[in-house]
Amino acid sequence: MIQPITKMEGAFCLKGKNVIVTGGNRGLGLGIAEAMAQVGANIAIFCRDAAKAAEALEILKPYGTTCKSYSCDVVDMQSVRDAVAAAYADFGNIDILVNNAGVSCTKSLLDMDEDLTDWYRVINTDLNGCVHMTYEVAKRMRDAGQGGSIVNVTSNAGFMVNHGQPMSPYSSAKAAMNHFTRCMACELAPYDIRVNGIAPGFTNSELSVHIPPENMARINTQTVAGRFGEPIEVGALAVFLASPAAAQITGTVQVIDGGYMLRC
Ligand SMILES: NC(=O)c1ccc[n+]([C@@H]2O[C@H](COP(=O)([O-])OP(=O)(O)OC[C@H]3O[C@@H](n4cnc5c(N)ncnc54)[C@H](OP(=O)(O)O)[C@@H]3O)[C@@H](O)[C@H]2O)c1
Repeated sequence: MIQPITKMEGAFCLKGKNVIVTGGNRGLGLGIAEAMAQVGANIAIFCRDAAKAAEALEILKPYGTTCKSYSCDVVDMQSVRDAVAAAYADFGNIDILVNNAGVSCTKSLLDMDEDLTDWYRVINTDLNGCVHMTYEVAKRMRDAGQGGSIVNVTSNAGFMVNHGQPMSPYSSAKAAMNHFTRCMACELAPYDIRVNGIAPGFTNSELSVHIPPENMARINTQTVAGRFGEPIEVGALAVFLASPAAAQITGTVQVIDGGYMLRC
């Protein structure tokens, strides 16, 4: 059973914890890696772009924790298996898994090709990538017997249908991730593994630069906070969910979207 905190001292600290962040080389994943490294965590970045990973490691260097990168395509189970084995060999144990890697697609279903290439690309990365990583890491967390925390980065698009932006594979993958999060919270609880989701709204990253300019003004108007989120803000929420302060939180999906959905 996961013990409650008794005082606030150290409640948000991740000192000495080992974390895998998929897609930790840029965008929200890098914001999460930075936030966690700043509160003492060692970081294993999983991604495909090695040059971007090297840049991310330079950004993490000043925080003084152990940070490494691993080549991993979350779509490919063998690639996941190899990268997880390599990270365990280097770090000994993994305490926190952040399933952040994701791609999007703004195409209506009927505009897709006959092989539904875009549909499978998004579902295979966002949903199945999260499942692949959870399978490999949670099994090892169970066997290590030291508990753990899994944080899945979903989207507020998993709760609603976005205006003017057809994105059914993305929204469907994120909605499924939300429910996968709840299912895993129940299945993994016997091993003291908590599982939660973060559902960001529009947040500054390379994914969001593809939003057509005509949509930007409408998005900012619709967002109660009046602006896009920043990756470090998503990182702060991930730190909280992974920290001892959140010992009694599992199976939740926390929205961080500046109030965007309130005006939908
Ligand atoms: N930005 C937003 O407004 C927003 C809003 C809601 C939710 N989100 C979610 O936040 C997460 C991060 O998005 P972002 O905005 O930071 O996007 P981004 O800047 O495009 O970064 C995507 C990340 O995912 C990694 N990735 C993609 N496919 C992968 C694969 N097959 N295997 C391993 N890694 C893969 C990329 O690394 P490599 O290319 O090097 O592999 C990259 O690090 C996504 O799950 C996204 O759905 C973003």
